[in-house]
Amino acid sequence: MENFDINNLVRENVKTMKPYSSARDEFKDFDVAQMIFLDANENPYQNGVNRYPDPQQSSVKAVLAKQRNLKTNQVLLGNGSDEVLDLLFRAFCEPKVDNVITLPPTYGMYGVLANINAVENREVLLSQDFQPQIESILESVDANTKMIFLCSPNNPTGNSFADESVVTLLQNFKGLVVIDEAYIDFSKKPSWLNELDEYPNLIITQTLSKAYGLAGIRLGICYASVAIIAVLNKIKPPYNVNELTQQRALERLADKEKIQLEIDSIVIQRDELLKVLSEVKFISKIYPTEANFVLIKVDDANKRYNELIQKGIVIRNRTTQPLCENTLRLTIGTADENKILMEALKAIG
Ligand SMILES: Cc1ncc(COP(=O)(O)O)c(C=O)c1O
Repeated sequence: MENFDINNLVRENVKTMKPYSSARDEFKDFDVAQMIFLDANENPYQNGVNRYPDPQQSSVKAVLAKQRNLKTNQVLLGNGSDEVLDLLFRAFCEPKVDNVITLPPTYGMYGVLANINAVENREVLLSQDFQPQIESILESVDANTKMIFLCSPNNPTGNSFADESVVTLLQNFKGLVVIDEAYIDFSKKPSWLNELDEYPNLIITQTLSKAYGLAGIRLGICYASVAIIAVLNKIKPPYNVNELTQQRALERLADKEKIQLEIDSIVIQRDELLKVLSEVKFISKIYPTEANFVLIKVDDANKRYNELIQKGIVIRNRTTQPLCENTLRLTIGTADENKILMEALKAIG
């Protein structure tokens, strides 16, 4: 996109801000092992976490940037991708003035965050086969539309969005296109990360909560142009990713083979489960999935949901979501868990 200037999208109050400089930021280029730190009112006795964490999370970013073939200043980390998404609202959307576009049925936090930030959420339903309706989306855009959220693979439907649709939005929308790739590692499709240089209005979020098996540490990632990341750095809380999270993330990121083995086995389990689900009589539709969950349509979602709870199995009832009447979302578990799920589905059927 020609003449794209991120400054035209940044909130007025953020434009003039400088990043908060924390005590640790100021001395990052020194040989810290040789220094005495009496600057941050910490307890001096070592226990592994008595010091504030690296506010820039340099080690984690270096690994991620290397693995993704990006520059470290194209990466921003947050307390889960939920925090990263919230920062996007705070950086670019003027409360009570700007709006964003989301495509239900989709991940609920986009709407929640719009609400929290007093930003209008223009909902443009996906089509019956859960694809973005490009014309309607572009018709909904006005001068105050700052972001369009695309979740691909989409939660709760499981499918990815057509490449042509994404490209059309990237080329025609003058605001930011945020692609939430929380489930990308389970998909055969490549990430949109490779397109960051092509589209200055592209933002990609990912997370260590799904394929990387670290939901408990809360680490979300934003990849974008250097200019966009610089804006987000101005407003992020100084110590938003704690020391234990940074350590665990580094350990896990070093174990690429183990992560891939787990992803592979989840995908194998998913395909096994899909086969058996087709034999259950009360399931009328199994939606195609590229994620670690599958959406199914049943005769009576509330009834089936409660029956599974009675058997000690918790799934997600999505029946109240638009286009999702009588649907249930099943996360792929271990082989043993999936076997128990299948037996329960057959028993209640
Ligand atoms: C599409 C999508 N994006 C983001 C998230 C949140 O990820 P995190 O755990 O990094 O906050 C989820 C969690 O379910 C999700 O489904």
